[in-house]
Amino acid sequence: GSSHRYDSQRSTAIFLGRSGFLSTVTFINPVQEQVKLVEERIRAQAGNSHPDLRAALEHLLASGGKRVRPTVVLLVGNMLGGPEAKLVTLGAAVEMLHTATLVHDDLIDGSLLRRGLPTLNARWSPAATVLTGDFMFSRAAKLAAEADHLPLMKLFAETLAIIVNGELTQLFTSRGLINRENYYQRIYAKTASLFEMSARAAAMVSPVDEEMVETMRNFGYETGMAFQIADDILDFTGNQTTVGKPLGSDLLQGLVTLPAIYYAEANPNNPDVKLLAEGGWANQDRMERLVN
Ligand code: IPE
Ligand code: IPE
Ligand code: MG
Ligand code: MG
Repeated sequence: GSSHRYDSQRSTAIFLGRSGFLSTVTFINPVQEQVKLVEERIRAQAGNSHPDLRAALEHLLASGGKRVRPTVVLLVGNMLGGPEAKLVTLGAAVEMLHTATLVHDDLIDGSLLRRGLPTLNARWSPAATVLTGDFMFSRAAKLAAEADHLPLMKLFAETLAIIVNGELTQLFTSRGLINRENYYQRIYAKTASLFEMSARAAAMVSPVDEEMVETMRNFGYETGMAFQIADDILDFTGNQTTVGKPLGSDLLQGLVTLPAIYYAEANPNNPDVKLLAEGGWANQDRMERLVN
């Protein structure tokens, strides 16, 4: 019934560009000032690198982004009495790692729009794009090291490995698959793993016991899974201007997300659904029909 319909207006407000996001979501307010410190910290990472690299980093920073992951770090860390300086450092490390994965992801996916602006790969060579991503990974690692906590470095490295392994798995084996288990594994790798790390790392630098660290890890995991499911719904129902990236693109590329899984379950006899797993995903007309 209509009462169960997804309210795209409301969710769009949550995913609005940075200013809208910050002003409409009240749980952000307590950390708004600290998020600015995180951004300053990120900006300082360009150092005296090549002018084109500096310009690229500035472009990435200026384009905004919701800063959801540093927000998780700060909210969890503040709640647990963690030291602000470390939380800001951690937040910057997490956001830089995230942005680095986006730089490479947009090149891999051939995406031309991100955060409402042209991507690096839309304006630059693949070589320069790859190297800018690498530079950001190295800066993220340096920032994480500045938290001066060895288990955190290990967690950081392990999380990056999970993300990269997930991208490879998706590239090679996930197209056309209508399978919840596979879907949940994919969204864990690409999104929830980093949210999980953010909440867990914030707890690790705070004066709390192992049990609380584990509780926060779990909180980050659930938040990350929910965030990605919402992102996948917006891929169908969102407004490209507010979401800031090309929409409908997952299914067009043969990636079956939760809304499409529900559709497939409700319409098992639809010929496009039936052929999806057997290479139907490679047929542009079929996929456009399914997206519609
Ligand atoms: C985009 O993440 C990539 C995903 C894992 C879905 P965000 O939606 O947090 O992107 P920004 O940082 O706000 O641009
Ligand atoms: C997100 O992957 C990037 C990573 C976390 C590696 P997607 O390709 O699924 O996300 P969007 O749609 O480009 O943001
Ligand atoms: Mg992408
Ligand atoms: Mg991708």
